[in-house]
Order: sequence, then C-alpha cells, then structure tokens
Amino acid sequence: MKSRKGSRVNRREFVSTASAIGAAMFIPAARGVAAERPAILGGKPVRAGGFPAWPQVTEADVQAVLGVVRSGQWYRSRFVPKFEEVYAELNQAKFCIATASGTTALYCSLGALGVGPGDEVIIPPYTFMATLTVVLQHYALPVFVDSDRETFLMDPAKLEAAITDRTAAIIPVHIGGNVCDMDRILAIAQKHNIPVIGDACQAHLAEWRGKSVGSWGTTGCYSFQLSKNLCSGEGGAILTNDEEMADKCFGFHNCARKRVPGSSFVYRVGRNTNARMTEFQAALLLTQMEGIKERAQLRSSNAEYLSSMLREIPGIYPARMYEGCTRNAYHLYMFRFVSDEFGGLSRTQFLRALRAEGVPASAGYSPLNKEQFLLDALNSRGYVRVYGQETIRSWPERNQCPENDKLCEEGIWLAQNVLLASREDMELIAKAVAKIRAHAGEIAKV
Ligand SMILES: Cc1ncc(COP(=O)(O)O)c(C=O)c1O
Repeated sequence: MKSRKGSRVNRREFVSTASAIGAAMFIPAARGVAAERPAILGGKPVRAGGFPAWPQVTEADVQAVLGVVRSGQWYRSRFVPKFEEVYAELNQAKFCIATASGTTALYCSLGALGVGPGDEVIIPPYTFMATLTVVLQHYALPVFVDSDRETFLMDPAKLEAAITDRTAAIIPVHIGGNVCDMDRILAIAQKHNIPVIGDACQAHLAEWRGKSVGSWGTTGCYSFQLSKNLCSGEGGAILTNDEEMADKCFGFHNCARKRVPGSSFVYRVGRNTNARMTEFQAALLLTQMEGIKERAQLRSSNAEYLSSMLREIPGIYPARMYEGCTRNAYHLYMFRFVSDEFGGLSRTQFLRALRAEGVPASAGYSPLNKEQFLLDALNSRGYVRVYGQETIRSWPERNQCPENDKLCEEGIWLAQNVLLASREDMELIAKAVAKIRAHAGEIAKV
C-alpha cells in the first residue's frame, strides 16, 4: 500500500471511490462504498456482532483466585512478591512495588519524593483525571504543558518554559499507550534536576528505544484497572531502577514499613499510607500475564494495518508516534477527526454513524485544565492559604492549552479489545469510515 501521494497497489485490489464531497480514497474493502448506504441512513452495517470481550477469563484465573480464597492468606505474602518479581523482569526494571491502583502508584511516587504544599508538578492536559488527582492529593500546584496534537502527548517543546524553582516533579503520560518523547523530556528534567514520574497506566509493554517505558525516569506507574491491557479489576505497580526510591515508595505505600524485612536499611518516611495490593489481585495478574506479549503483538499489527488504511482518508489522522517509540501499547487506538475535511459533518454525527456500522468508538477526553472540580480544588481554603489569592486567580490564564482544546474537539478512540479482532475487521473499520465520508453530506442532515 502507498501513501495518499502514491500510486502502486500491490497486496490486494484497491479501489478508488469518489466520495460525495469529491475526494478519492484508496482503501481495501472499500469497493463501491459510494453506492452503499451507510447504516445510519438505513443501509447494512459493515460489521454485525461484537468485538472480542474484555477481560479474557480463563480457567487458570478462576483456579488462581479460588486458591487464594482457600488458603486464607489474603494479605501480601506469596503472590504479591511473586508478581513484583515477574513484573519487574517483564519490564527490565530492577524494582517493582505492587499497589492497590494506578492512582495510588502515582500518589506514592510523589509521596516518596516528598512532594507537598508549595510544590509545582507538571502534567499534560490530555489524560485521565487521576494524573491530576494525585497532585491535588499532595496539595501541590498542577502546571499544565500543552499537548502535541499530532501525537496526543505532552509537547516536549513547551516543557522547559513551565519549569520554575518550585517544580518538584514532571509527570509525562503515555496516553493510549503512545510513548512521550522521553529523550527530550529526560534531558530537560536532568538539566533542572527534576524527577520524572512516568504515568504508564495505559502503556503496558510500551517501549522507548527498545526499553519498557516504566524503566525510564525516576518511577514508572501502571494501572491494572479492568479496562487496561493487563488487568485484575483494580491494581497498580511502581517500577524503578533506583533502590532508595524503591524503599521510599514501599514505605510510603505500606505504613512506613521496610521493603526488605530484616534489612538494615530503614527509610524514615514521614507521611505514608496503605496502598497495598491484595493476594487476590496478584494471583489474577500472574495468570492474566499469560499471552500478554502475543496480545500486544496482535494489537500492534492490527493498529498499524488500520493506520495504513485510515491515513488514506482525508480528515482522519491516526496519532503519530515519536521516532524513539519502539512499541506503542495501543491501549487506545487514537485518531483525529477533522470535520472541515468531512464536509462539515460533526464529530458527534460521525461517531453516531460509526457506531451504527457496528464499530464502537468514543470521543475521548475533554480539557482537564478546565474541569470544574479542579477549579473548585484550587479555590478551596487550603490552596488559597498555601498559594495566595493572586496565584490562584491567575492560574487559569497561566494554564491555557489551546492545542489541547482543539485536540479534545477532534479526538476519537477505539478501545484496545477492538484491536484484538481480525485483520479483516480492521478493513471493515476503514470501510465504515470511508462509507461515512462518501455520504457525509447526507448524514449531516439526519
Ligand atoms: C493515564 C491514567 N493515569 C492514571 C490512571 C489511574 O489508574 P487507576 O484507575 O488504576 O487508579 C489511569 C486509569 O484509568 C489512567 O488511564
């Protein structure tokens, strides 16, 4: 297959279809889409039936959990340490601390660094609210760095300008499993001596320059909540290569206890909490890890195939990857939908038409830096006392993210389980998009 500019068509018979708004398209399975009625206009959906279910439950999972129930050892003892060992190895990291959730993994990482009132923590605006929640939990001031619209990730070119003498941590988020530009982010962080806490909650097995994203920076934090590519309902993990940081994170997450029982090393954590993982979660994670690499490979090859087709459709822009991203986890398949290039069809209409074709899709995040809960938190008694009226008053102005605002109007997601379907299904998804575009004018009127 060739790009929009290309002409050679080899693997399969490609056809061009004049769309209702005049653009030619070259995608497999799109034969005659101009003549086919979109499902939303009463035609036949491209796909009937659901996509692969998630989670994938096996008999081994059932036996593992039953085994823990029967043993009566439900508290951190056998499976949690085993999981920590296996997960560290899987990610080429020296240390792993299993936690109750991704949120607590991030919370404990910041806690271990001593982040507190008066500090600033840099985060991106295109992320799940937990990345922000943990900053607020420590009464630190969130500072947003705008998104790079092409990648959906923190724009590394805008990072340095956000650093002040109060910056205590930077949290790059590998959203959807796409990997932040770690070369540039780490170089800036090192120059200013600021720790980097990677939010890899959506980035299981994602890699930067051939190494797990979790093994770059000060810590890498994962979530095993139900929707994630590795899941146990709830759960999380902190990875680090720094032994002192491992001790501090362990102490913070486990009521100031020592990581290695009986060791001479005693880390005196001040604040701490209970964010321990249970044995049930760890046992389930160990069995769920079976086949994780194969599933990651399947998602990657399907996503790449889908991108090769969607890139041919004007107005559809699959998330670009930075050059150093050697593996995208594809927790989400993300693309931008540009309404102007779809004859003015709105994103809401597009999504409705896509779902009618049997393709589940959603609109993604709205701007986190503008959420009311955040503004309420910043205007709370404690924040105003710590930071002063003027800092809080000027905060929205200082934290504008215009590129992210546009991204939030354009973003579209397919969930990771969609990528576990067949290669032919990827063609049907592309066909559905082509069909919608070919009839965009008519769909816009319904
Ligand atoms: C980017 C990101 N960060 C943090 C979290 C928090 O993880 P958890 O739900 O396990 O607390 C999530 C979970 O959805 C996430 O997607």
